[in-house]
Amino acid sequence: MLVTEAAVNLPEIVAAVRLLEQGRLVGLPTETVYGLAADAESDAAVARIYAAKGRPADHPVIVHVHRHADPLRWASELSPDALRLMAAFWPGPLTLVLRRNPGVADACAGGQDTIALRCPDHPLAQALLKEFKAGQGGLAAPSANRFGRVSPTTAAHVRAELGDAVAMVLDGGPCAVGIESTIVDCSQPGRPPRVLRPGGISAQALADVLDCAAEDLLARPLESAPRVPGALASHYAPRTPLRLAAAAAIDARWKPAGAVGVLAPRPAPLADPRGIWIQAPSDAEGYAHHLYAALRDLDGRGLDAIWVERLPGDPAWDAVRDRLRRAATDTT
Ligand code: TXA
Ligand code: MG
Repeated sequence: MLVTEAAVNLPEIVAAVRLLEQGRLVGLPTETVYGLAADAESDAAVARIYAAKGRPADHPVIVHVHRHADPLRWASELSPDALRLMAAFWPGPLTLVLRRNPGVADACAGGQDTIALRCPDHPLAQALLKEFKAGQGGLAAPSANRFGRVSPTTAAHVRAELGDAVAMVLDGGPCAVGIESTIVDCSQPGRPPRVLRPGGISAQALADVLDCAAEDLLARPLESAPRVPGALASHYAPRTPLRLAAAAAIDARWKPAGAVGVLAPRPAPLADPRGIWIQAPSDAEGYAHHLYAALRDLDGRGLDAIWVERLPGDPAWDAVRDRLRRAATDTT
């Protein structure tokens, strides 16, 4: 974690709580990406999130809760698996889809009878949740980007993305994880949990806690499974066309002074300071941490295209590969 408890500025937190109580939107730092937060129990406030993001109304949002909050205020039941996952990974980058108490946070549910709950591991998020409704409230918060675009991982990204639509942005520094939480569906009675979106916590880490095989958690979702817009084919996308390309194809075609930017976990083959080549870390965690900032950087340079070097196929890279596949316009 890059920000400690000591860095929490209480007057700033109190100001953010006031705004939330007035139904306004606050930029929320979390360990994954920045969220666009509103009172989950106010239909009008949640409607503002949808308007600011340009998000279709039938797409549900995650409700963020304090680490001492009672999940049963929101969820009607917690399976033994859900309890195990909460005990192991909360606070942390894990979102659980649970059966929802009737009538609770309707505006967050996109018409479904489930609710997605997450307990973020960031001192500012926890401080805000502690002050808001005495720790028992919920903050609806999708990623603080326009619908379908790259998620923000700094406070400056949030301001650039949403401008005046957000009343205040709490600056919690760059997000430690850098990609969105893992979403696990624990709402299907009598069925094992399923990973709906890979993320900060690997399927293997979940399987270790649940005492099952990782593949069991990754089985294709059922027809009746909840919808996950983050699972749309096109999502997390920069405006510049993004192509996934093999290392050899990049080396054969990239020119240092050309209008193409490259993101790869290795240095540029030709040493030329004019070249737009961002060298990413070569481990999956480090790569995830830098990914969205690198895409934003490349997207802001007026390039004709962004080429991203294909990544290793092993499970450690699942979440990053998922995001890049959806960001790509062309995967040749
Ligand atoms: O790391 C994260 O999860 C970040 C930070 C801000 O917490 N939030 C985030 O929110 O990524 P968003 O809205 O960009 O993506 C949330 C995903 C969406 O794909 C949404 O469909 C899914 O969670 N979701 C929310 N409620 C759901 C529900 N009841 N059932 C199934 N999926 C749900
Ligand atoms: Mg999002």
